[in-house]
Amino acid sequence: MPNIAFISPKGGAGKTTAALLLALGLAERGARVALIDSDPNKPLVRWGALPGRPEGISVHAAPTVQDIRDAAQEARRRDPDWVIVDTEGSVRGAMVFAAMRFDLVVTPLNGSPMDAIEAIKAAELVASFGKRAGSSLMHQCLVSRSPPALKPRSLAKVVAMLREQEIDILPTALVEKDAFRALFEIGGDLKALEAAGVSGVPAARRNIEAYVDAVVERLGCPAVAERPAYCRAG
Ligand SMILES: Nc1ncnc2c1ncn2[C@@H]1O[C@H](COP(=O)(O)OP(=O)(O)OP(=O)(O)O)[C@@H](O)[C@H]1O
Ligand SMILES: [Mg+2]
Repeated sequence: MPNIAFISPKGGAGKTTAALLLALGLAERGARVALIDSDPNKPLVRWGALPGRPEGISVHAAPTVQDIRDAAQEARRRDPDWVIVDTEGSVRGAMVFAAMRFDLVVTPLNGSPMDAIEAIKAAELVASFGKRAGSSLMHQCLVSRSPPALKPRSLAKVVAMLREQEIDILPTALVEKDAFRALFEIGGDLKALEAAGVSGVPAARRNIEAYVDAVVERLGCPAVAERPAYCRAG
């Protein structure tokens, strides 16, 4: 059961969106996913309260750091295949490392050099928590609001800055899409968006598929023996 945390000291980097898209993509493949919302603003709890939440996804609130262990226990009782933790956009978000063990930590970032600096800080935080726990934690950055067409020069600079620090970046970026924003207004999954007449859903679906593939590939296809569907292509 892979545990994945979305962390960044910078607010608005795209953590909550990336956490939800991963959950939706995995649920689409038949996985059971527990989402732990450890942001006191509770954006995922709010999404979960809207109509249409897929059956395979449960949402567990952990508004303070002290609540994370309880939320994780509650989540485990549902026997999920994946646990995904969204955190608040500050250094406090990294407190989850004290409460849970993770297989992968993802730091979303937009394509500006300022973001790269914050992502480097996140990588340092992750490395220091890993060291304290006595094992290294896998950390990946994720470009979270890539423009749909041409990649701007600033993004190339960001990638170069991260590579220089030997920080990994997931090979698939999340593209800036109205559909991803609409999920938090309409609730449910991409099928719900389609039913509500939101445009661009097929492209949004392809983007999520590629993103889920990238995460699964980085984790080395966990639980492949039980659930080979995770690892199917495209
Ligand atoms: N790929 C995307 N396409 C369109 N909008 C996006 C995308 N990613 C993020 N956004 C929008 O950007 C804003 C910030 O995203 P999000 O809430 O996911 O970031 P966050 O890191 O969780 O923020 P916080 O630190 O406040 O928790 C939101 O309005 C969200 O809808
Ligand atoms: Mg958030």
